[in-house]
Amino acid sequence: MTPIVKDIQSREDIALLINTFYEKVRKDELIGPFFTQIAELDWDAHLPIMYDFWESVLLGKSLYRRNTMQAHIELNRKKQLEKPHFDRWLALFHATCDELFSGPVAENAKTRSLSIATMIQVKVTYHL
Ligand code: HEM
Repeated sequence: MTPIVKDIQSREDIALLINTFYEKVRKDELIGPFFTQIAELDWDAHLPIMYDFWESVLLGKSLYRRNTMQAHIELNRKKQLEKPHFDRWLALFHATCDELFSGPVAENAKTRSLSIATMIQVKVTYHL
């Protein structure tokens, strides 16, 4: 039987997406160290911030009011973020979207992540 794959509709869906994505990220040899070593992340604090961010981007809530660019500018000062890092981040994020969800919101997650990644990359590369 074909599994029923649904679209992203709720905070629970976003949490599943983000938790699954970060499981891949943490194990990734290219970008994992940014999260596990360089940023010294408090995951209990970071994960709900990411749920807020994606609920705001995808589901029209206004929960996230922080400065995404500044976080990556500071990270880039500790270790330079380069194109292969962004490409890997996007590949893992898109693969997670496709693995778990299907529909316009899941498509939007991929489109928006690409445009936000491009903005972050331009900012950190040219120190704008
Ligand atoms: C090279 C690719 C990327 C790496 C290695 C990376 C890594 C990180 C790390 C380590 C943090 C935690 C910073 C800290 O709290 O000290 C962070 C925060 C964050 N990242 Fe990324 N990131 C990448 C790309 C992206 C992209 C493409 C997006 C969005 C589409 C994104 C969205 C966020 C958000 C929303 C935060 C939370 C910032 C805050 O504290 O409010 N990141 N990222």
